[in-house]
Amino acid sequence: MNASPSDIQHARLVRKVRGSATSDGAGVKLTRVIGGPDLPELDPFLLLDEFGTDQAEDYIAGFPSHPHRGFETVTYMLDGRMRHKDNHGNEGLLTPGSVQWMTAGRGLVHSEMPEQESGRMRGFQLWVNLPAREKMTDPRYQEFAPASIPVAHPAPGVEVKVIAGRVGDTTGPIAQPATDPLYLDITLEPRTAWEYALPEGHNAFAYVFEGALVVGEGEDARPLEAREMGVLGGGGLLPLRAGDTGARLILVAGRPLREPIARHGPFVMNTRQELMQAFVDFQEGRF
Ligand code: CO
Repeated sequence: MNASPSDIQHARLVRKVRGSATSDGAGVKLTRVIGGPDLPELDPFLLLDEFGTDQAEDYIAGFPSHPHRGFETVTYMLDGRMRHKDNHGNEGLLTPGSVQWMTAGRGLVHSEMPEQESGRMRGFQLWVNLPAREKMTDPRYQEFAPASIPVAHPAPGVEVKVIAGRVGDTTGPIAQPATDPLYLDITLEPRTAWEYALPEGHNAFAYVFEGALVVGEGEDARPLEAREMGVLGGGGLLPLRAGDTGARLILVAGRPLREPIARHGPFVMNTRQELMQAFVDFQEGRF
């Protein structure tokens, strides 16, 4: 076979995962892509849920009061409105195109409830782990309206909303040195190709939510269709080529923490003892 004349290393799709249907909160229908039986975690990512429906009964019950400790939740709304309230007095409305990067740290109790009775609700929630030294940090919010998320056009037919990380000179508003995350919402026009240099040493995945594309180059090229997630490997430049109807995907990467995980429901710690303490602290109202 012909070797590539260049020394440029290309990333490739190493594994495909389809989410499984589940429900959470008070009965919200979800597709769990990370955090289910097929892919329990992808360090530092603990969970990825896609929610997307036009049926109010699938989301109307929302996510009433529940705790989190030891990690971050990232909510990216595509359609619909969700009101967020926590027990520290924080409250906000997530509107289409907005992002909420919530560092739960040592703990909070919050609710996430739809602020609409009909129409489409669509978006993602991603859980990002925190290193041991930051699990008990103060809770913190990084919340951005759609207008504060910069949009890059790195090539003809390519539009990228940069939530976290960099595309050329465009830097996303989210700061999290612990895992140095990348979070891009990429729209490719039909048959458009683009290459993105993945951050070195990060774990990365792409989740296609509209259309279809081919990931990788030459012998490594593999198709990825809507509602499929591709775990990416190899590092370096990631070649993407949209199909005939174009493609829209999120591309997410983060520096792995490589720490032990003790996890149950909304608590993610390093040891079983810390996990037990989280239950006690929650029950005794110390969140
Ligand atoms: Co929550």
